[in-house]
Amino acid sequence: MEGEYSPGLENVIAASTKISYLDTENGKILVRGYDLVELAQKVSYADASYLLINEKLPTEAERSSFTSMLKNAYALPGELYSVLGSMPRGTSVMDALRTGISFLAGYEDAGMLHDSSRRANVEKGVRILAKAPAIAANAYRALNGLPFVKPKGSLDYLDNFLWMIYGTEPDAKSREIFDTILTCYIEHEMPNSTFAARVISSTFSDIYGAVVGAAASLEGPLHGGANEMAIRMLLEIQKLGGASVTEEYVMGKLARKEKIMGFGHRVWMDRQDPRARLLEGYIPNVVANRPDGRELYAIYEAVAKVLLREKKIYSNVDYPTSLLLYLLGIPIPLYTPVFFCSRISGLVAHVAEQHENNRLFRPRVIYEGPGNLHP
Ligand code: SDX
Repeated sequence: MEGEYSPGLENVIAASTKISYLDTENGKILVRGYDLVELAQKVSYADASYLLINEKLPTEAERSSFTSMLKNAYALPGELYSVLGSMPRGTSVMDALRTGISFLAGYEDAGMLHDSSRRANVEKGVRILAKAPAIAANAYRALNGLPFVKPKGSLDYLDNFLWMIYGTEPDAKSREIFDTILTCYIEHEMPNSTFAARVISSTFSDIYGAVVGAAASLEGPLHGGANEMAIRMLLEIQKLGGASVTEEYVMGKLARKEKIMGFGHRVWMDRQDPRARLLEGYIPNVVANRPDGRELYAIYEAVAKVLLREKKIYSNVDYPTSLLLYLLGIPIPLYTPVFFCSRISGLVAHVAEQHENNRLFRPRVIYEGPGNLHP
């Protein structure tokens, strides 16, 4: 069998794309020709979503029609609230989100569901994008015995997302930071979850299945699940004694060959993820939001110092996000769902691109098992 084997497909080019590229040379994340860090500072997540899905930033008129398209699609079918309300209490919010998205597929008529044209994928993709925050926020509420907070058609995507999480309207600073986090998470070339979505789409399976598969991948601790584990680590160190025990805590984990969540990256291995650098700059603005903010920030910085000194490893996007979402008062089980809801815009772009120029993914193997056996 000829062909080269690279474990984990490390450094293997899996697709040609016009969507995004990690320019590690220049430390930039290119998203449809724009620097993602600049987008995160200058445009809203909704505009960045429009860019990913429609291949250009919106004019004023396009922005307002996209906003109404999203608003008109916020509502969840009543039956889905009963499904969320009947989930076993131990269900993770990500599993409930994955289930909810899968449930929605049945509301598309068969022709539409299996229509792999760009127009149809964008129409279905915008429905998933619009509904995912309501599924995530209300799954969290159902699983924690809190009343549902249904989406409000008068609010734009961002305010509606925060409205359903907090049950109140957000302050301006939280809104701005949450919007920046969503844009940082929106698209990142070919992470495992995007690859999963493209692999699934390459059989001409529908966009709902591709998004659900990506959700299952992104939940993993080596991927999007890291943001929840990172804050839990900071809180654990706080409980054990705070910044003064951080060195010992981290050195112990490294000695046991345990990974520190929120650090390292397959592509940003020898330099910091530019998204992490941007987001770290926002922490001082909100560190006073919670009484233990300053203490957690000291722990946060102490962990990063040890990782850099001991392993020359930098924080990735999930590390600053974990502390920022905590300081914004977002419940921890919603951190990975927030990441995933943001990434749906990127996934819609990738599924549409895969269906437009498809080649079934079907790699081969190096066989190391027995042969010539007979029953
Ligand atoms: C995201 O792909 C994307 O783009 C993902 C993402 C996106 O936007 O979609 O950027 C979002 O998922 C970010 C990553 C979140 N995951 C984590 O924070 C989990 C912790 N990180 C590690 O598991 C790891 O860094 C990975 C999985 C992210 C990358 O792993 P690789 O490329 O397989 O690297 P590796 O495990 O082979 O590590 C190389 C070396 C090893 O040291 P040695 O054994 O050679 O001495 O670096 C060490 C590792 O032990 N190392 C770490 C570490 N990450 C790597 N050591 C301690 N803690 C870590 N986090």
